[in-house]
Amino acid sequence: MKNKKIVIHNEPDFNKARDRRKADTVFTDATLKISSLLRDYAKGKRYFIRTYGCQANVRDSETMMGILEEIGFVHSDDYNEADVIIINTCAVRENAEDKVFGEVGSLKSLKAKRPGLIVAVGGCMVQQGVIVDTLKDKYAQVDLIFGTHNIEYLPDYLNEIITTRKRIIDVISKPGEVIENLPSVRIDRYKAFVNIIYGCDKFCTYCIVPYTRGRERSRKKEEVIKECQQLVADGYQEITLLGQNVNAYGKDLTDGTDFAELLEAVAKLGIPRLRFTTSHPWDFSSKMIEVIGKYSNIMKAIHLPFQSGNANILRRMGRRYTPDSYRALVDEMKAKIPGVSFTTDIIVGFPNETYEEFCDTKKMVEYVEFDNAFTFIYSPRPGTPASKLEDNVSEEEKHRRFDELVDTVEKCATLKAEQMVGKIYPILVDSVSKRNDEVMSGYTENNKLVNFPGTVDLIGKIVNVRILESKVYSLRGELVSE
Ligand code: 5AD
Ligand code: SF4
Repeated sequence: MKNKKIVIHNEPDFNKARDRRKADTVFTDATLKISSLLRDYAKGKRYFIRTYGCQANVRDSETMMGILEEIGFVHSDDYNEADVIIINTCAVRENAEDKVFGEVGSLKSLKAKRPGLIVAVGGCMVQQGVIVDTLKDKYAQVDLIFGTHNIEYLPDYLNEIITTRKRIIDVISKPGEVIENLPSVRIDRYKAFVNIIYGCDKFCTYCIVPYTRGRERSRKKEEVIKECQQLVADGYQEITLLGQNVNAYGKDLTDGTDFAELLEAVAKLGIPRLRFTTSHPWDFSSKMIEVIGKYSNIMKAIHLPFQSGNANILRRMGRRYTPDSYRALVDEMKAKIPGVSFTTDIIVGFPNETYEEFCDTKKMVEYVEFDNAFTFIYSPRPGTPASKLEDNVSEEEKHRRFDELVDTVEKCATLKAEQMVGKIYPILVDSVSKRNDEVMSGYTENNKLVNFPGTVDLIGKIVNVRILESKVYSLRGELVSE
């Protein structure tokens, strides 16, 4: 592959990304600049997007899809036939990054076969200078590197690439912007993600997100309501309000709105199912608990990452709560929200974690009786405070603890699922089962996958299903007539 010239508009800078000096959020309305040249170019051409990571990335990909379709590109599920490929990346752990390098590497031969192909890499991973340097120097097949804060400029980048044939890098750090009115394509017909707050100011010592997604900035309440109203009108059955910390919503706004008020206002719009993620235990208020308990359409399934069950480790993680205060919060919710259930995120093998400290984490799983937990082995993220710590725990020991924790979580999850057998639950029907087209799949309020005999006309409806059997990753049930 011939080495193309590189145009660098902006490169990532962790010092700028770390900056949290007070500055007002800039609210802007997107104005896409799509040239007629680009529109002509897109005619009959296809795009493919691969998304790694969390729901924020899924929602960003939906925006990228909206922009590409506005230009005139058509979606394709097969990157072998795509003319534009975007890899939307995640930086939260090293193995997520390894997968991206593998995938981008494999695009080299495709690009050699089809030189006109445009390969773009966006998302959290490229908010890091070292990653940009590697892609720039070793992955000549990449035409465009763009960050989490400049998705709206996709048409400009594509225009520049097709006119100059140069490679482009544009990654902005230190963002304080909320951009409204970008087009988007929703991947799911009945379930929608709605951003309410971007970025994170918590700076947990292991986490890269505050650097890759900038400071906490809330969307205006009326914008969130407008988007949700439209979703209700369009027949959506479920909305998930999104943010790295949804409960920090409104802290940066001047009108005094907080998350509890926003949640209540959205619940009142009449969406059948309302969820929110992710919640930080530190600013989960009693007012929020009250609202969750008051509205039947707010799902009583709370994702509440605790990361570690040990006070010392939590302090070193900079998590701002203790195991006791976490337990107290869970107890308050159990007392005030009938039927509440919990899922969580846990990190094993934080630097210098002792076996006793790890055991406190297992104890927390048993105490709360989680429905499920996402478990991770600690992965040092360059530039974060924890990555500078020396670590006396071997990888082998971390894996051993990880397996032990997975065992504890599975026991808990199995027990919870078995308790559901014989009972009737409302299920939002999602799709036809992959294995049998006479079997439908859907989700309970607490996000358990249920398979039951049914017909395709049920997709997008909420139906009552009696649970007959609990399996490892799903439940089996039967429809209950009204
Ligand atoms: N190593 C391992 N897991 C991490 N997470 C965040 N940063 C790291 C890291 N450096 C996990 C946390 C978080 C979830 C999204 O990813 O558990 O809640
Ligand atoms: Fe990362 Fe902590 Fe912010 Fe979650 S709260 S995104 S773990 S810094």
